[in-house]
Amino acid sequence: MQIVKTRKELKKLLASWKAAGEELGVVMTMGALHAGHLGLVEAASKDNDKVIATIFINPKQFDNKNDLASYPIDTDEDLRKLKQAGVDAVYLPQAGEMYPEGYSTTVSVAAMQDCLCGATRPGHMDGVTTVVTKLLIQISPDRAYFGQKDFQQYLLIQRVVRDLDLPVDIIGVPTYREEGRLAMSSRNRRLNEAQRKIAPTLFQVQNTIRDLVLQGESVDHVLEWGEKVILEAGFDKIDYLELRSEENLTLISETATREAVMGSRIFVAAWLGTTRLIDNLSISR
Ligand code: PAJ
Repeated sequence: MQIVKTRKELKKLLASWKAAGEELGVVMTMGALHAGHLGLVEAASKDNDKVIATIFINPKQFDNKNDLASYPIDTDEDLRKLKQAGVDAVYLPQAGEMYPEGYSTTVSVAAMQDCLCGATRPGHMDGVTTVVTKLLIQISPDRAYFGQKDFQQYLLIQRVVRDLDLPVDIIGVPTYREEGRLAMSSRNRRLNEAQRKIAPTLFQVQNTIRDLVLQGESVDHVLEWGEKVILEAGFDKIDYLELRSEENLTLISETATREAVMGSRIFVAAWLGTTRLIDNLSISR
């Protein structure tokens, strides 16, 4: 497994692969890798001749300084896991090279941002779409893999690629879950024992909401019930618990047609102490 840290080294490596006609898949991460990240690597390995992973804790997408300062870092272990998963190369860019002195360009999608994490974490999604666009340009892969756990992020990246005609296929990979069905996340490492017991409530509530909505119960009542259960389980605060279109994140409410409900997803973000967890679940699948 090759490790490259500069754009110059990256360019050289990519040129040798391109010359050999290899198809390339990329998995972008911020490190502290878990089985969900490795699931993206597995999907990329199936479709491509070569797989490159990136590890970069992107300062532009942190709206909260404490979250950035406490973001888990475990690069040696990450590299071991990526090597074991059969990744061909890892790109570890330095912040100074990604955002040199005077850097002033932002890639911002004007749609699908005024809700969910776009609304509760100002600037976060622009930070994501900016860094992902830069990495797509630097690497020019055939395919790029993103987790549906971060569904809004996945939709926004798809929109950037479509709007800017970037020649890459964006592939969405379903959410990997721990025992108890808690969505895997690098931030789960911060949970204490008591919080770990509470955290799976998010999946259980979404699952019951799905069942009740499919049975034809009132969407508003079911979501109200869900909020109550999440808070009673011990969560400290809910940022959102909503039903939205899987295609464009339009809010699905009481008056929505059955067809709109069937094409929707439950989205949730809630806090356990200082840790914010997110999850989502499709209503129809
Ligand atoms: P990070 O949170 O490290 O996640 C990297 C990739 O792994 C993202 O595509 C994310 O959706 C996916 N992922 C995380 N947990 C997952 C799970 N439980 N199941 C399936 N996929 C999962 O998301 C980011 O980093 C950053 O915003 C990034 C895209 C790298 C840009 O900086």
